[in-house]
Amino acid sequence: MTTTTPRPSRKREPDRNLAVELIRATEAAAMASARYLGRGDKNQVDAAAVDAMRPVLGTVAMRGVVVIGEGEKDEAPMLFNGEQVGDGTGPEVDIAVDPVDGTTLVAKALPDGLSVVALAERGKMFDPGPCFYMRKTVVPGSAAHVVDPEAPVGETIAAVAKALGRKPDDLTVAVLDRPRHSGLVESIRAVGARIKFLGDGDVAGAIMAASEDTIDTGVDLLFGTGGTPEGVIAAAALRCLGGSIFARLAPRNEQERKAAIDLGYDLDRILTTTDLCGGEDIFFAATGVTDGALLKGVRFGTNRISTTSLSMRARSGTIRFIQTFHDPVRSTLVPALD
Ligand code: FBP
Repeated sequence: MTTTTPRPSRKREPDRNLAVELIRATEAAAMASARYLGRGDKNQVDAAAVDAMRPVLGTVAMRGVVVIGEGEKDEAPMLFNGEQVGDGTGPEVDIAVDPVDGTTLVAKALPDGLSVVALAERGKMFDPGPCFYMRKTVVPGSAAHVVDPEAPVGETIAAVAKALGRKPDDLTVAVLDRPRHSGLVESIRAVGARIKFLGDGDVAGAIMAASEDTIDTGVDLLFGTGGTPEGVIAAAALRCLGGSIFARLAPRNEQERKAAIDLGYDLDRILTTTDLCGGEDIFFAATGVTDGALLKGVRFGTNRISTTSLSMRARSGTIRFIQTFHDPVRSTLVPALD
């Protein structure tokens, strides 16, 4: 008698993974901005990345609207909030772009400068309105259930350590290196945890904190106040990776607080990962500009330029690391030198 092994049935028909297409946009931005490595001018870094990213986004099969972009139309000639991007076919999506997260890192040749893009279903990304900053706690998915966002930092670290089966002293917490975090730093040190200071770039920090056994970054948590756009982009990445963010809007001054309240924002509300990036169809792409714990930076070789990227999709949970070798003459992604 012959037996046949049952074949696993398909969960869904394979479809297009836009995160893989988005990689071309972040690669183009990374290669263009990496030309300005160490030149000290963060605006040049950003402008080169935006110029290179936009035409490539225009080729992606989507009907996208930039909801987290380079600012309002008057100040940003391209990738401004409200701009329509994509080839006009495919799904209607919200787009969050940060052509370079960590422009200063690139300008000073410091680690972890990334180019990032995230997509979600239309209307599913949080609009931070007038609020520039939010307070963020990022933890790996397996410890999310023990987090009380109102609890003191030391208690959160202790609870996360227990959930991960480790001691607080074994955990490393990523924190943006800012004077506003001096109290936070003391609280982290008081429970014995170690700190990885980020010069800039808390999107990379959030991914590091949530990556658990997928990406070996040596970072276990992230705390601190950083940009609201970066919070939304990080949430998109965490939806793909499986980590969690707990955030709260943090107005810089009375004027910003009043503007937010007048627009109906609840400043006491804890914003969860799904509040910041909802829906199921979420795509995330990032390419390293400078070398870092997450990705390698751009290398300009004799015959090829190499980039290293991360592509993730929430629906399937697939995470890809992609190394690409670009021909500086033939590839349309490589900007011409002036
Ligand atoms: P840029 O790339 O726009 O310079 O932002 C980098 C960044 O470090 C973000 O990752 C972070 O959320 C934010 O700036 C922190 O803001 P600030 O530098 O004002 O503390």
